[in-house]
Amino acid sequence: MADFDAPSDACNPGAGLFAECLVHDWEHRIQAAVDFHELEQARVELLGKNGLLTLELKKLGNLSIDERRSVGARLNCIRESFEGLFQQKKQQLDELELNERLKQEALDVTLPTRPITTGKRHLLTRISDQLSSYFCSRGFLVTSGPEVDSEFNCFDGLNMPSHHPARQEQDTLYLKNHEQMLLRVHTSTMQIRTFSTKGIPVRGISTGAVFRNDAVDATHTPLFHQIEGFVAEPGITMAHMKYCLLDLLSFLFNVDLCAMAKRGDAIPVRFRPSFFPFTEPSSEVDCCCSRVNGELKLDMGGTWMEILGCGMIHPNVFKNCGAETFEDGTPAQGFAFGIGVERIAMLKYGVTDIRHFYDGDIRWLNHYG
Ligand code: PHE
Repeated sequence: MADFDAPSDACNPGAGLFAECLVHDWEHRIQAAVDFHELEQARVELLGKNGLLTLELKKLGNLSIDERRSVGARLNCIRESFEGLFQQKKQQLDELELNERLKQEALDVTLPTRPITTGKRHLLTRISDQLSSYFCSRGFLVTSGPEVDSEFNCFDGLNMPSHHPARQEQDTLYLKNHEQMLLRVHTSTMQIRTFSTKGIPVRGISTGAVFRNDAVDATHTPLFHQIEGFVAEPGITMAHMKYCLLDLLSFLFNVDLCAMAKRGDAIPVRFRPSFFPFTEPSSEVDCCCSRVNGELKLDMGGTWMEILGCGMIHPNVFKNCGAETFEDGTPAQGFAFGIGVERIAMLKYGVTDIRHFYDGDIRWLNHYG
């Protein structure tokens, strides 16, 4: 706001009824008013009915005509300046009051920003990705297929007859109103899909979710993840399967099982005869594990834990896919295996409850991711 203008020469002809020093005092008093009350009080005292300047103006009548003209002009000039000054000061106080009110009424709609977190890949994703790149570097095709699949891809094609217990509703989740469609119970469906679309020879893996009609507890959830591997090439024997799986377990658990086997040392891995309709012979693989300072160790001093299922692919599986022979006419042959991803993660990282994988607890995810 502009300062109060000093009276011009016309307003200031020297000594008069309203002395110059008095003008300055009043200017100062008006400028120093801190609120409307103080300002109004000053106005009444100066320009009110009995105000100082009003009384001076009333005295003009006692003066001679000449004096009246010059003093009158000066006093009116002073009065106009004071009126202007009161007006300016009032605007200033109005503005101050408005600003004060805005400050008090202001609503802070901002929130302090949260520290930026980049997130981490889920432990299951990390293990699946690690295994995918491991197999990729060994010439395996990385395939993926649907979670809802047909009874043929899940059971019949895999040599699982209709009376097989896995086909009962208490084990398998079927789709309502879609007969013969179900949530796949294993990733072995990808053997059927790959052999029948790509033919043989082929070597591939597939990772993904599988579903079982299980009640939830510390070791069971209706959804979990598997990695399926399959190799169909001429001349493939069980020895190849064994080497492939020992190398895989060496990678997973940071040991060199193949070197141990070559040296003739006892290896903490055993191939236990088992049965799967789609492999013959079939086997389950156990590892002898112990935990030292929270770290998993594969050594003969631990306990035997089942890790995966495997076997030589049953000829009926190839037949069901229209892939009975290789190009040179020799019969189709190969091996397959299936691993539970949660099981590996639980073993490797000492997770004791499978439900933790699906809780979505950010602290858990950050720790294990
Ligand atoms: N599909 C089997 C299961 O879910 C695992 C398996 C895969 C076994 C391939 C043998 C060969 O348990």
